Amino acid sequence: MSDRYLGFANSTLGRKLVDALGLPRPVPLERWQAGRLRPIEGALVLGGGPLAAQVAAIAPRLTADCYSFNSDLLPAPAWVAGLGPKLKAVVFDASALSDSDMLKQLREFFQPLLRSLAPSAHVLILGRAPEHLADPLASVAQGALEGFSRSLGKELRNGATANLLYVGEGAQTQLEGALRFFLSPKSAFVSGQVLRLAACAAQVEDWTRPLAGRRALVTGAARGIGAAIAETLARDGAEVTLLDVPQAQRDLDAVAARLGGRALGLDICAADAAAQLIDALPEGLDIVVHNAGITRDKTLANMTPEYWDAVLAVNLKAPQVLTQALFEAGMLHDNARITLLASVSGIAGNRGQANYAASKAGLIGFAQAWAPRLATQGASINAVAPGFIETHMTAAMPMALREAGRRLSSLGQGGLPQDVAEAIAWLSQPGSGAINGQALRVCGQALMGA
Ligand SMILES: NC(=O)c1ccc[n+]([C@@H]2O[C@H](COP(=O)([O-])OP(=O)(O)OC[C@H]3O[C@@H](n4cnc5c(N)ncnc54)[C@H](O)[C@@H]3O)[C@@H](O)[C@H]2O)c1
Repeated sequence: MSDRYLGFANSTLGRKLVDALGLPRPVPLERWQAGRLRPIEGALVLGGGPLAAQVAAIAPRLTADCYSFNSDLLPAPAWVAGLGPKLKAVVFDASALSDSDMLKQLREFFQPLLRSLAPSAHVLILGRAPEHLADPLASVAQGALEGFSRSLGKELRNGATANLLYVGEGAQTQLEGALRFFLSPKSAFVSGQVLRLAACAAQVEDWTRPLAGRRALVTGAARGIGAAIAETLARDGAEVTLLDVPQAQRDLDAVAARLGGRALGLDICAADAAAQLIDALPEGLDIVVHNAGITRDKTLANMTPEYWDAVLAVNLKAPQVLTQALFEAGMLHDNARITLLASVSGIAGNRGQANYAASKAGLIGFAQAWAPRLATQGASINAVAPGFIETHMTAAMPMALREAGRRLSSLGQGGLPQDVAEAIAWLSQPGSGAINGQALRVCGQALMGA
């Protein structure tokens, strides 16, 4: 469904009216286009501590235009406020900030840059996870980065985003995959997020096809977010099996044919779903995306047992049953990547969605519980929690709720299925075993539960 306000607010007349009335003016976000090679088309500026030098070594593969700011140690020309080019990407390594007095470096670094950001710019702050630091003063300073980066996300304009990545010991080798995501339009709708990167032995071999040779299964792939996930995984080189209910077989066949994938009509709640899946995929799997999901909204006072059971069965029970069965049957290859489609409703709670929110919060717990077990074979499992995404599911919402869902976020608009798909494609890469048991929100920094 199209967002008419977004179009109006960016027309000549609409822009004047919206500005005069002091209304929010969301801007069209830049998205990744097929065939694009460089993650950053424009200037990247680096600063801060020792990880910035590691980023400088990767930078020539990210952009043709790299600068340093407030740093004499980096092998890049200095960016000068007011004279340098507009900035498309900014990386600040805050990992060396070891007490609260040093936090002022954040203000000193960022303030001169803020008026020089290009539209849809991406800011990434690097740090060390506070829970892994022995020095309490350093833990405090690193913990403070969360509040800083989330506030920055809320202050940025013009479609810009800000995120925080805590880089663990030995995780520097996985920085490139994370930078390619967070500094490019692939993270257009990801802002105000905090992720932890750990060491991981597996690596991407070819950045133009990072999923080449990987077998993937996407449930609920006949339409919406699932179809976009299948398309993005196929774009990145995966061989994709698309699953949906037999009633959706026609749509499923059409999407599968377009992507050169395989269609599997199957209800994931069927008593023999796991057995059918194992029979249908004898080669095993490298990537599993549990995307199929339903809503049956009612306030708890009016919730029928049927509504409760249906949502819990599809959204929470089926992914558990299938994952357990695939695991026990040895169908999950070493370095397998599993993603569970959660929701910001599961994080913040949502009136009228007690069943749905319970199922989606359960998936986040599921990822945390399974992460250590899967890590023993280099595999990983994470939850991706979309906010308001433009699909059939949100088109069916009452108008006022739909408008609120779109506007009540830092980016002031709904996301696209592609935004969720890009996050999942990144988490499905071989090197993304560096992220395990975590929840990544793709929500434009929704104010709900932010
Ligand atoms: N659209 C949003 O804003 C949003 C926000 C947060 C989370 N999500 C989650 O993202 C996922 C995809 O959402 P969407 O908006 O694309 O939904 P959608 O309704 O457009 O698509 C869901 C697909 O899942 C399939 N499905 C449902 N039950 C199934 C079953 N038992 N077996 C096999 N397939 C089944 C449906 O047939 C459908 O094709 C869901 O898990 C949803 O909860 C969506």
